[in-house]
Amino acid sequence: MIATAAPQEIDTAFAGTMTAKLKEQFDEGLLSGQELRPDFTIAQPVHRYTDTDHAIWRKLYDRQASMLQGRVCDEFLQGLATLGMERNRVPEFDQLNETLMRATGWQVVAVPGLVPDEVFFDHLANRRFPASWWMRKPEQLDYLQEPDCFHDVFGHVPLLINPIFADYMEAYGKGGLKAAKLGALDMLARLYWYTVEFGLIRTPAGLRIFGAGILSSQGESIYSLDSASPNRIGFDLHRIMRTRYRIDTFQKTYFVIDSFEQLFDATRPDFTALYPELRTLPTLGAGDIVEGDRVINVGTREGWADSEDI
Ligand SMILES: [Fe+2]
Repeated sequence: MIATAAPQEIDTAFAGTMTAKLKEQFDEGLLSGQELRPDFTIAQPVHRYTDTDHAIWRKLYDRQASMLQGRVCDEFLQGLATLGMERNRVPEFDQLNETLMRATGWQVVAVPGLVPDEVFFDHLANRRFPASWWMRKPEQLDYLQEPDCFHDVFGHVPLLINPIFADYMEAYGKGGLKAAKLGALDMLARLYWYTVEFGLIRTPAGLRIFGAGILSSQGESIYSLDSASPNRIGFDLHRIMRTRYRIDTFQKTYFVIDSFEQLFDATRPDFTALYPELRTLPTLGAGDIVEGDRVINVGTREGWADSEDI
């Protein structure tokens, strides 16, 4: 079940430079050299969306919006409502940006796909979220390798309406630019993975999802909260930065924040001195439980992949 249902989008921040997706778009005539700006953005080619693209958006939107009730954090639902995000059609980024800019000064910019790390960080540091413009194909409803428009826009943009999360994302971008110079991207990538993509948050009503990698996936939206298989552990910055992860299955461990304030406060300090310190310690497997963990539950390990985590 895990192997077939996990839509593990490789995160935009850390998958290296633009590769196959960019070449494919050039080859198919969907993109020309004139359209691609030096910062890897393009004007969202809204005229290129087909009826199928809009139908896939609608299907995914309806499926996730209803199943996320009672599963996703309130801040996400508030963001979705405030944005007035299109349900029937792929949203036009310019329209989203009118509300988003007013709320937190963020904007969504269209990109052809994965962008180089430093370009990605520079966008975040300047409150621009790079979103893939293209939609997954009908046969990719539950699985695709690269983040598409649904993952990026439905998954990531609503929380950018939240002022604290918006500040966290900007701080993350600035931290990324520094980490790149310090050779510490592997450690900072884990923080993004276990929070922005696969984070859970504790609320008075119980655990809720805030990570975009979870909430844009039907299977993982259920698994992350309901399954006994994964570990769930309280957020710990240093611990997360040492923890490897899976890009090919559901997560073995979910980290749980108490609040967005906690997340922002923990990441406010300069990490320059922290990286060499953490480098002296061994990395941890994606499913390890170690002394000092604030364990919410120890997973049963059912269905866990045996292969090495990255
Ligand atoms: Fe993502």
